[in-house]
Amino acid sequence: MHTTSPQLIFNNPQQFVQGWYWALPSKKLKVGKVKAVTLLGRKLAIYRGNSGQVKAVDAHCPHMGAHLAEGKVEGEGIRCFFHNWKYDERGICVDVPSLEKPLPVCIKTWSTAEKYGMIWVWVGEDSPTALPFVPELENIDCDYILGTRFSKNCHPNVLLINAIDAHHFNTVHNLPLEIVFDAQDFHSHAITFSNTTRGGDDSLLIRLIRPLYQKEVTYSMCYWYGSTGTVTLGPDFLHFYIIFALRMLEDGKTEGQTILVTPKRRGFFGWVINRLLLWLTQQVGNYFAKGDTQVFQTIQFDLKTPTKADISILQFIQHVNQQKALTWRTWENN
Ligand code: FES
Ligand SMILES: [Fe+2]
Repeated sequence: MHTTSPQLIFNNPQQFVQGWYWALPSKKLKVGKVKAVTLLGRKLAIYRGNSGQVKAVDAHCPHMGAHLAEGKVEGEGIRCFFHNWKYDERGICVDVPSLEKPLPVCIKTWSTAEKYGMIWVWVGEDSPTALPFVPELENIDCDYILGTRFSKNCHPNVLLINAIDAHHFNTVHNLPLEIVFDAQDFHSHAITFSNTTRGGDDSLLIRLIRPLYQKEVTYSMCYWYGSTGTVTLGPDFLHFYIIFALRMLEDGKTEGQTILVTPKRRGFFGWVINRLLLWLTQQVGNYFAKGDTQVFQTIQFDLKTPTKADISILQFIQHVNQQKALTWRTWENN
């Protein structure tokens, strides 16, 4: 079975899924400031208007091509550094200092959102659909911190399947129980994989933690747009939430950011507990990443010989291949 055929989206360095992609941490963009961001091969200027709203526009000025991140934010619009043309929040040119009337030109704008301390950009011509979220926390106010930012020498799709590669939990991470996932379409652009097993009765560790689990061991993964994965794991009374927000770099490499999340707890003690929990979540996340880091620097993914344990991976590949594909740099659908 050819899972990496060039006309498919999965593990394709020229194609990606239309969707929401992380651009930069919210804290890095103050009111009235603009930053240059290259996202999926396309150059953007992302700025925060005076109202606090974030705008994302194509980077190069339609006059002569200056990068708008060299310019200045004015109200909700942006003024190019070079000849001071101004574009409003819709991207429409509203002022050309040397002319009485502005010219009928505009810059392309993209939808943005802020969630979990991150600025996200909707990449695609269709109307934006749901922002990635942790299924258990859909309408819950959360605390969060950003964890490590990393890059890897393989495609984001390939890195993400590590979390549902059932077999490797035993071989790499020494987990003393068999993980079997149930796949569910969670949303038209999201798929979840949830562990369905208890098992591990011959292991002392599992017998020790058994009282913490009513049913199966909670471990589930929700993939959004083939690029952002939210992990939920832990004993029944305390779930840890880790988001792996990834995006593709040139040549199908990966740039990623982990986000650690926990539901808001009230009062000063709630705040203190949450700092501790977020720190703990980060340790759990690091444990996840440890162990197989090196594999992702050298892997040439090609699942030529799938076994029964690889079924979730095949389901994920199929899910990604059913999404709407856009092309690197042009963001066009073809
Ligand atoms: S290049 Fe932007 S105003 Fe001239
Ligand atoms: Fe792993």
